[in-house]
Amino acid sequence: MIGAQWGDEGKGKITDLLSRSADMVVRSQGGVNAGHTVVVQDQTFKLHLIPSGILYPDTECIIGSGTVIDPSVLLEEMQQLRDLKVSTENLFISQTAHVTMPYHRLIDKASEEKRGKHKIGTTGRGIGPTYADKSERTGIRIIDLMNTDDLRAKLAWAINYKNAILEKLYNLPPLNPETVITEYLDYAEQLRPHVVDSSLKIYKAIRQKKNILFEGAQGTLLDLDHGTYPYVTSSNPIAGGACVGSGIGPTVIDRVIGVAKAYTTRVGEGPFPTELEGPIEQLLCDRGAEFGTTTGRRRRCGWFDAVIGRYAVRINGLDCLAITKLDVLDTLPEIKVCVAYELDGKTCRHLPSSASEFARCQPMYHTLPGWEKPTSDCRSLDDLPEQALDYLRFLAEIMEVPIAIVSLGASRDQTIIVEDPIHGPKRALLDHNGSPWDAMTY
Ligand code: IMP
Ligand code: MG
Repeated sequence: MIGAQWGDEGKGKITDLLSRSADMVVRSQGGVNAGHTVVVQDQTFKLHLIPSGILYPDTECIIGSGTVIDPSVLLEEMQQLRDLKVSTENLFISQTAHVTMPYHRLIDKASEEKRGKHKIGTTGRGIGPTYADKSERTGIRIIDLMNTDDLRAKLAWAINYKNAILEKLYNLPPLNPETVITEYLDYAEQLRPHVVDSSLKIYKAIRQKKNILFEGAQGTLLDLDHGTYPYVTSSNPIAGGACVGSGIGPTVIDRVIGVAKAYTTRVGEGPFPTELEGPIEQLLCDRGAEFGTTTGRRRRCGWFDAVIGRYAVRINGLDCLAITKLDVLDTLPEIKVCVAYELDGKTCRHLPSSASEFARCQPMYHTLPGWEKPTSDCRSLDDLPEQALDYLRFLAEIMEVPIAIVSLGASRDQTIIVEDPIHGPKRALLDHNGSPWDAMTY
């Protein structure tokens, strides 16, 4: 299950829903930049690293190899769950995941400041610098935390090296190596019982024919390789990233489910063609409670962008979509969907790779009538107003992908299951009978 937009698509709720029939839930990328909000009865859980599957007592949850782990946040999150009487016994952490250190957080914030108007608008959680060290091959992995002697030597070297950067490049005070080492040795002991060879553990579950859900964090457009670079995160939130980040082969994945909001939001900097200003933006933000789970930042809001939707279908090989927060649009008299961009006087139907071209894209809209009726109590497609159904049909048609789930509110029961999202019917990817959008086919 992956995000089909810029993150915050409502994946927390959909994972929670899909976790019901999963024996194992795996996070493969990202770190504590993610924020998943799950509401169960009257309790709200805010999860950053731990898969929401943890709320089901028999589901095994894995924080995979491609993630970056900030132990202080992870341990806090585990404590929060235990305080709410949720067991963390079924939580497993990959020994090859990389560890976020205090210098990563400091460098993330300081480098954003240095970028000035070119800043990315990161979450400030040290994600980029942790992944940079992984690529530079100077990172600390969970397995290093497990070996005390090794860790001392590695950390002493790394802290020295980073102190030079903190002091000389950013004018910041150096970190005290002993303090950091003591802090991380303590984290290591707390995490030790949860550390495993996660690829092996997942493979055993595959051989036992268990149902496994790979839970994406962030979204397609934030992908390091295929997103709106440089305004992206430093991992691969697309479907292919699930294989790399958990150590499994692509042949074992049966189905890829995308999650998209019925409109679009983005948090952080970077171009956003369908972004709105004024009363409609305010309405989407208010009705959608569009404030970040991790940073509390107000999310930028705009109309649904089907160019991006089609891109997500292509890049991830989506089998179906879950559309979330449809109810947020309930009061609007008309609703727009971006079907193409105008770029320098020409119609552009595919996402441009250049950030400056993307910044010049003007949305070309198709306008649909709104339904102006509450939908959050609808429990089947038949309950939905005709215009709401037409809106969904339009989205499925233009993106050439079936919609399997429609979500109409935060709670577990505010959901319409259109077709079994896990077992199919598995349709051909380009199965779109007589779509009026033939001009857009490849
Ligand atoms: P970073 O991941 O903290 O480096 O931030 C890079 C970009 O990704 C920024 O625009 C963030 O706002 C965005 N981002 C990172 N994680 C999330 C998320 O979970 N939801 C939405 N945006 C995110
Ligand atoms: Mg989020």
